[in-house]
Amino acid sequence: MSAAPAPAAVPLPRLGHAGSDWALRHMPLLATTVRRHAAALVGRRVAMCLHVEPKTAALVALLREAGAEITLTGSPGTTQDDTADALRATGTTVHGRRGDGPAEHRRNIDRVLECDPHLLLDNGGDLTVAALAALDGGGLHELIGGTEETTTGGLRIRELPAPPPFPVVVINDSRLKLLVENEYGVGQSVVQGFMNATNLMLPGSRATVVGYGPCGLGTARTLARLGARVAVAETDPYRALEAVMHGHEVGDLATLLPRTRLLFLATGHPGVIGAGELDALADGAIIAGVGHQPWELDSGALAARTASVVRYGSAGDERAVHRLHDGRELTVLAGTRMINLTAAKGNPIQAMDLGLTLQARSLAAVATLPLAPGAQPLPAEADREIAADLLTHLTA
Ligand SMILES: NC(=O)c1ccc[n+]([C@@H]2O[C@H](COP(=O)([O-])OP(=O)(O)OC[C@H]3O[C@@H](n4cnc5c(N)ncnc54)[C@H](O)[C@@H]3O)[C@@H](O)[C@H]2O)c1
Repeated sequence: MSAAPAPAAVPLPRLGHAGSDWALRHMPLLATTVRRHAAALVGRRVAMCLHVEPKTAALVALLREAGAEITLTGSPGTTQDDTADALRATGTTVHGRRGDGPAEHRRNIDRVLECDPHLLLDNGGDLTVAALAALDGGGLHELIGGTEETTTGGLRIRELPAPPPFPVVVINDSRLKLLVENEYGVGQSVVQGFMNATNLMLPGSRATVVGYGPCGLGTARTLARLGARVAVAETDPYRALEAVMHGHEVGDLATLLPRTRLLFLATGHPGVIGAGELDALADGAIIAGVGHQPWELDSGALAARTASVVRYGSAGDERAVHRLHDGRELTVLAGTRMINLTAAKGNPIQAMDLGLTLQARSLAAVATLPLAPGAQPLPAEADREIAADLLTHLTA
């Protein structure tokens, strides 16, 4: 049975950074959980690869309060430099800046691992894969195990030729996370990011969402509630059926793309929009990424069709208008990196309160429980503990 939430009277750590301190005030579940499991975290060196933004800063502040030592880098293109600077000012080692490309990102990952971690907290699998290489090279003697935030990273770890010789708790395996964060949090923040990036009106617009997992479902629902005419392309017949039941038009890409004005990519798979799909897409379409990697649009196929590009905005959140050889124009937002992170403030705070609580609870489980090696969900008892706490907070 879970303990009562930490009393509000216990002061929260302060980072002196408005966004992070605001986030911390609205993450009661995280504060409760980290404080309850502080004994498992004290003295642990934690290497982290997670979007460097205020909710992550709140997690770092609470883990440090519990006595853990944190070294952090972000995912390329999503680091918020002011948040990174605030963390550095309070003594956390943070590698990387917003404009970093893939090569700098790989270097940042290697530098994070130089802390000789006990625990890894990963988002996308890069840190785990680099840790496996370091282990092969005879390093990381004190590594106990890690966590992985995303579906994409979980798949990557499960598809490795040999499973990691240490436990990796995959946060996205939690039913609780899929419901609260992916469906409701991503759904809201992706649409918010799209509106921030474009300042366009949604009512009446024809939007197509590709992929109807929790992220696509939430995106489609938010778009529809704001008046967009939503269509869904989904290869899994059960999920496609669910989209029909939710009132969306469902079809294959060949049918939907010629009528698509706004295109949201939420499959997590590479090359979903390739040459044929680009040729079918309506003139004037705008493409935004939801999935973890900016690879659902085949950038090579787009480059081959592009006669000229006009770019608006700054590196990291640019709007690139491609004029194609056939005269059509297609706009790509932020190179299809996650639009809720590039053009909005990431997922809503309460959604990340839950997601990061699952992270912190998983780190404590990895540090203390005899878990089997390889990718696995958070033990059911710990998941239930958090569900009970969330219910307490939401119904208080
Ligand atoms: N933007 C964010 O903040 C955020 C947050 C969480 C997860 N994600 C990422 O979003 C992506 C989706 O997450 P999810 O939990 O919904 O994943 P999921 O795997 O549950 O859903 C993806 C869906 O896409 C479908 N699909 C695959 N290939 C397709 C194709 N060619 N055409 C049509 N449908 C296709 C699959 O059948 C599946 O139903 C992942 O990459 C995940 O890491 C992003």
